[in-house]
Amino acid sequence: MGYKNEIDLLKLPKHIAIIMDGNGRWAKGKGKLRIFGHHNGVLSVRDVVEGSVELGINYLTLYTFSSENWNRPKLEVMAIMELMVNTINKEINRFMDNNVRLQAIGDLKMLPDKCYTELTNAINKTSVNTGLVVTLALSYSSRKEILQAVKQIAGKVQNGELNIDDIDEEIFENNLYTNGMPNPELLIRTSGEYRISNYLLWQIAYAELYFTSKLWPDFRREDLFEAILDYQKRERRFGLTSEQVN
Ligand code: FPP
Repeated sequence: MGYKNEIDLLKLPKHIAIIMDGNGRWAKGKGKLRIFGHHNGVLSVRDVVEGSVELGINYLTLYTFSSENWNRPKLEVMAIMELMVNTINKEINRFMDNNVRLQAIGDLKMLPDKCYTELTNAINKTSVNTGLVVTLALSYSSRKEILQAVKQIAGKVQNGELNIDDIDEEIFENNLYTNGMPNPELLIRTSGEYRISNYLLWQIAYAELYFTSKLWPDFRREDLFEAILDYQKRERRFGLTSEQVN
């Protein structure tokens, strides 16, 4: 049976964002090094991507590496970057088979050259695909994203391209990294932490939040389906009354 059969395919969230947390603790629990957790986290990424394709989700945005993560021990940072290069190389054919388009948001200039090059190649190669858009948030900080939007808008005001009174939510959104994407309706965080950790702060204003104690390497498509079912049971009121939305 499973959760999938219970999902209403007409009421799917268009955009799901995930904070993939708990790789380190998962590995530690098995008496292994943290990187073992990240390696197994990649298997969850693959399964969740394919589960999203299976359902027909439009956008999946994965918090892969935060700006703050650069401050982790050098060895772990290097291992994650190498894992990323290898994963992108390995997954590209699956992305093509599944019609998945890869994107990345964040301060990508910070990435090591090899990682940046592989990522750009994969983004270019998959740009012809028309199915699920998988966005990796890499070297990402929502506050930095908001600040760069403010600077971009201020620049346009300064050079006379934009009138200050015309700045509205739409213009602001157009200057975020996520320009052109719908806002996530569902945000999932694994590992039992109840935090947003500087992730898509503007974009999740009305998202439904779903927290699970499962650690990321244990999270698979069935868990995604369970989260979607939970989302579908909620009443989204956007500040209105229950009577108004019904
Ligand atoms: C959080 O767990 C996980 C990360 C910081 C890295 C996530 C990266 C992957 C799953 C690799 C994905 C690669 C691609 C290409 C998508 P944590 O280390 O913070 O765990 P902890 O909270 O238990 O220490």
